Amino acid sequence: MSSCEGDSAATSIWTRSKALYTTLANEPHRDFGWGKGKENARSLGYAPEWLETLPDAVWESAAAVGNPFAVAAIAVGQTVVDLGCGAGADACVAALLVGSSGRVVGVDCTPAMIAKARANAAAAGLGQTEFHESDMTRLPLPTAARTSSSPMVRSIWRRTRCRSWRRRAGWLKPAVGYRSRIW
Ligand SMILES: C[S@@+](CC[C@H](N)C(=O)[O-])C[C@H]1O[C@@H](n2cnc3c(N)ncnc32)[C@H](O)[C@@H]1O
Repeated sequence: MSSCEGDSAATSIWTRSKALYTTLANEPHRDFGWGKGKENARSLGYAPEWLETLPDAVWESAAAVGNPFAVAAIAVGQTVVDLGCGAGADACVAALLVGSSGRVVGVDCTPAMIAKARANAAAAGLGQTEFHESDMTRLPLPTAARTSSSPMVRSIWRRTRCRSWRRRAGWLKPAVGYRSRIW
């Protein structure tokens, strides 16, 4: 699944959003008029060791609007689900935190972002990551991913947000961490 159904306004936003993030993946040094990249992540409080440990390419298409790692700790061995993972910067940080015994599942609807996330994680040697192209609002997560997941969830427009929150409520089990940022 790779598209949202809905009225023409939602479809238009969906199309423009994918076009924007395709451009960010392919032309990361373009000026979009908003914060992105490594220095933006630094200004949001991402730890210096993450910024220096991960290859620069991991950060160049990062469009963080907050630091999800400041909200709650991620422990070794956990499974993290990153919805709207973009080029994988947060997924790669999460992979550093969960270690080789953990697992990170990144989901994004923009094919160019998924391709870049896979390349970035491979370049960083983070084999505990996997990336899937999908619309987060229609995502059937396997049971195994639900037992100890810490979704870092972003949603872009209200309608999507409501629908995806309802779905995510069905995935989560007690004592599961949940972080959400809106952009
Ligand atoms: C602001 S970027 C954040 C990317 C990444 N988390 C970061 O910090 O760089 C938002 C990402 O969410 C993706 N996205 C937006 N709506 C989505 C949806 N309904 N399902 C899956 N991905 C979505 C976009 O393709 C884009 O890569």
